[in-house]
Amino acid sequence: MTPYGESAIRTEGLRKTYKTSRGDVQAVRGVDLRVGSGEFFGLLGPNGAGKSTTIGRCSR
Ligand SMILES: Nc1ncnc2c1ncn2[C@@H]1O[C@H](COP(=O)(O)OP(=O)(O)O)[C@@H](O)[C@H]1O
Ligand SMILES: [Mg+2]
Repeated sequence: MTPYGESAIRTEGLRKTYKTSRGDVQAVRGVDLRVGSGEFFGLLGPNGAGKSTTIGRCSR
């Protein structure tokens, strides 16, 4: 539950590890997130912080 109502997006401990020829890359290491229905959300951070992976490449 958020100030805007039920969560439209919710993650608990979101993570993603890329397997590469040079070893594992832990791109996302435990993201807990709640975004309410009708709420705007922005994800900020420097290059390599894991923004694109968080939005586009994590899966169950
Ligand atoms: N396909 C991939 N294979 C291996 N490592 C990757 C791949 N995509 C991203 N990474 C690594 O994962 C980390 C997060 O990258 P990314 O999600 O693109 O961050 P951002 O979008 O915040 O710049 C970086 O260390 C990046 O080098
Ligand atoms: Mg990116």
